Amino acid sequence: MSTTESQHVRIFDTTLRDGEQSPGISLNTVEKLEIAHQLARLGVDVIEAGFPIASPGDFGAVEAIARASNDFPTHHPVIAGLARAQAPDIEAAARAVRDAERPRIHTFISTSDIHIEHQFRSTREDIKAQARAAVAHARSFVEDVEFSPMDATRADLQYTAEVCTVAIEEGATTINIPDTVGYTTPDEYRAYLETLYRLVPGLDGVVLSVHCHDDLGLAVANSYAGLLAGARQVECAINGIGERAGNASLEEIVMLIHTRGDACGLHTTAQTREIARTSRLVARLTGYVVQPNKAIVGRNAFAHESGIHQDGVIKERSTYEIMDATSIGLEANSLVLGKHSGRAALKQALAELGFAVDGQALNTAFKRFKEIADKKKHVSAMDLEALVTDELRDALASYTLEWFEVDASSRRPPQATVAVTMPDGRTVEGSFTGDGPVDAVFRAINIATGLDARLREFRVDAVTAGQDALGETSVVLECDGQSAAGQGVATDIIEAAGRAYVRALSNAVRKAQAAAQGVDAAAAEGVATP
Ligand code: KIV
Ligand code: ZN
Repeated sequence: MSTTESQHVRIFDTTLRDGEQSPGISLNTVEKLEIAHQLARLGVDVIEAGFPIASPGDFGAVEAIARASNDFPTHHPVIAGLARAQAPDIEAAARAVRDAERPRIHTFISTSDIHIEHQFRSTREDIKAQARAAVAHARSFVEDVEFSPMDATRADLQYTAEVCTVAIEEGATTINIPDTVGYTTPDEYRAYLETLYRLVPGLDGVVLSVHCHDDLGLAVANSYAGLLAGARQVECAINGIGERAGNASLEEIVMLIHTRGDACGLHTTAQTREIARTSRLVARLTGYVVQPNKAIVGRNAFAHESGIHQDGVIKERSTYEIMDATSIGLEANSLVLGKHSGRAALKQALAELGFAVDGQALNTAFKRFKEIADKKKHVSAMDLEALVTDELRDALASYTLEWFEVDASSRRPPQATVAVTMPDGRTVEGSFTGDGPVDAVFRAINIATGLDARLREFRVDAVTAGQDALGETSVVLECDGQSAAGQGVATDIIEAAGRAYVRALSNAVRKAQAAAQGVDAAAAEGVATP
């Protein structure tokens, strides 16, 4: 390995797998494909596209991403499918990723006694045999196999080393050491991995990977410690989403290596200028907003409030800034369209933002653009991004909001009437009242569709600053025993809320149908994503 190669850290993105399994997130295939495209623009090395055995939806999305990845214009990342150490899981993952130019099967089984005894009700010997068989089976389908001893940081190190040794003997090409419950500390994790290198001589011939959860807020610090111990793949997710407190945040890892390459001597091939956009896309499609003070991608990450700091930055940026906002793509795009801009200008602007929109999709985008441009003087790159992402959401939605009317007053209860297109194409209407205009619209949608959905969360944000900013709403509801989220964007907040609500309904109904088909996705997820 050349020195530069030995310093290259592979970015393994698990936004679409560990991230997507966060409560309330329910991305459809079109949305997952859009995220995968953007991850490719960001230059990640591996996209973990999902857990194919979990549900037909998951399988279809991994398969679609595997196929699309061969045409990604930037590069063709490895596409990984997750599988428990069981033959049906491995076969499903193999089928799902087989059309990718660079397919990977990622198989895992726990090595901690807590998991072996209480979850698997098994023995160390049996688990080791299962790991061996799983890797061998995976290798019969693909050359690129990753093996993870789950809950490794709470497991006996000697035993985990034995399991990793058999995985390497059977042909694993990456060994990933998960801190599944976010329990370890940087010094402990580094020492663990250094000892593992001593106990498993075969590790020198494969890639060592880190996968850290953020339960104690140490996911990035632990991942970094793992890299210092010699790991050269880091598993992370955009905006740090993932099980419970989430995974190590991709943007923090990438910018840490980018900014402090001097200290660690490491580098990635990530295109840092795509970070801000990727973060916005994932936040928008998942409904998981980014906290304002979040490192790198928070709204305030590059804002200076105190007079002393502002004074310093005005005189010399480096007085209080360690990174340049443009290096993550902020303010990189000053593009603005107005109400006189035509279809060609919109197409060109979207292409500059990385969206190849043509035909019917362009017509729909243009119609929405005109509606917005009529109400808003300037349509910025951020507005266009929000608009195109919003259109994506309807691609697989089974319910669509056609129109609404609300009679709102502070002197009597609001009255809403809505028209919704049903999955069978019929348009139905319903009217109801509520605590406020938004509540009345939600209840009217329930009446129109005949669905008994209960609102659990509702949030409104603005896409950009300014009085005429687009409103972006996020809804989490429960329907048919399923919890699902939906988002909507419009200049009118009630319209955005109605759009979000019917999309959440579509997601809940889709999840309920998958469960009814006998595929207990939740149970499968429970095993896979501790
Ligand atoms: O956290 C974990 O252990 C995982 C494994 C499936 C790698 O997500
Ligand atoms: Zn995980």
